[in-house]
Amino acid sequence: MTTKRRVFSGIQPTGNIHLGNYLGAVKNWVAGQEKKINYFCIVDLHSLTVSQDPDDLRFQTRSLAAMLLACGIDPDKSALFIQSHVRAHAEGCWLLNCVTPLGWLQRMTQYKDKAAKQESVLAGLLDYPVLMAGDILFYDADEVPVGEDQKQHVELTRDIAQRFNSLYGRDFFVIPKPIIPEIGARVMGLDDPTVKMSKSLADKRGHAIRLLDEPKEIMRSFKRAVTDSGREIIFSRAPEKAGVNNLLGIYKAATGEDETAVLADFADARGYGDLKVRVAEAVIEILNPIRQRYHQLMDDPAELDRLLARGAEQAAAVANPKVDAMKEMMGLVLPR
Ligand code: AMP
Ligand code: TRP
Repeated sequence: MTTKRRVFSGIQPTGNIHLGNYLGAVKNWVAGQEKKINYFCIVDLHSLTVSQDPDDLRFQTRSLAAMLLACGIDPDKSALFIQSHVRAHAEGCWLLNCVTPLGWLQRMTQYKDKAAKQESVLAGLLDYPVLMAGDILFYDADEVPVGEDQKQHVELTRDIAQRFNSLYGRDFFVIPKPIIPEIGARVMGLDDPTVKMSKSLADKRGHAIRLLDEPKEIMRSFKRAVTDSGREIIFSRAPEKAGVNNLLGIYKAATGEDETAVLADFADARGYGDLKVRVAEAVIEILNPIRQRYHQLMDDPAELDRLLARGAEQAAAVANPKVDAMKEMMGLVLPR
């Protein structure tokens, strides 16, 4: 019998979740639930590292939880939980702070980029990668699926783990690996197919399909999508075909068909108008049940609370004893 790999995924509850997040990440999480042991964590403590409106943050945290469940994260197969519900994260972060040299944090490119844009930088922003290291290490995660921008943080996590292991006990922490998805799964902006569809642009007219958009809005956004002055419906890397290529890529990911089957579906299409309408219809069809299930969960707060409490309980059962063991190794006296 082979033991299942352990996977930790973290997602911030800020910004609007969109079709790129779904097709590029969440759909794969859902599909991979059986094969691995998964922890899906809504990292609300990380969101506090930049200023947040409290009511907004509360709403977005619950909303993202409902959305992930609606997308098919199954509480019987995976632990879905809110980071601040498990005490190990904040407590263990302190312990890791006390083995992490300041210089390691000052070198992080995300920190340097974000700090350069702010007048007053919070200590939490510098400490962000240590909190993230704890997320991963307290669950003995082997694999961490992240975008390219987070790779440096996972490498720092490995360094922190190795340092703790060499100071206090060989093999205590598992050394995790970043898993970076292949470029193929990238969904580009409908208004500009040269930029990635992104959360920060999701409220810009015509840029993104947000997972909660109503069918009429989805159709409108696709009809407005940028294409080219030709009429060839083909998969192509040519810069002028980026718009058509993106539409076909979305259709392919939404239907799960291969490229030959996709092109066969469009063999009788009369121009890009037809292409856009049919891609919109395919996306509407997958998002309809997701949106309905989302609203059901948001209308039943007790059920959502119950599911989140269950996820937190499963997570705490792993992370809290791990942090208690750290305390003991570091010389703290555990309460009796
Ligand atoms: P973010 O929106 O940057 O918090 O990313 C959350 C997850 O969605 C990460 O796994 C990203 O790689 C993925 N993702 C974000 N934007 C896209 C996109 N336009 N196409 C495909 N995957 C994406
Ligand atoms: N920093 C990640 C991001 O912004 C979110 C995150 C927090 C995370 N903790 C994590 C990702 C642990 C993977 C593992 O995308």
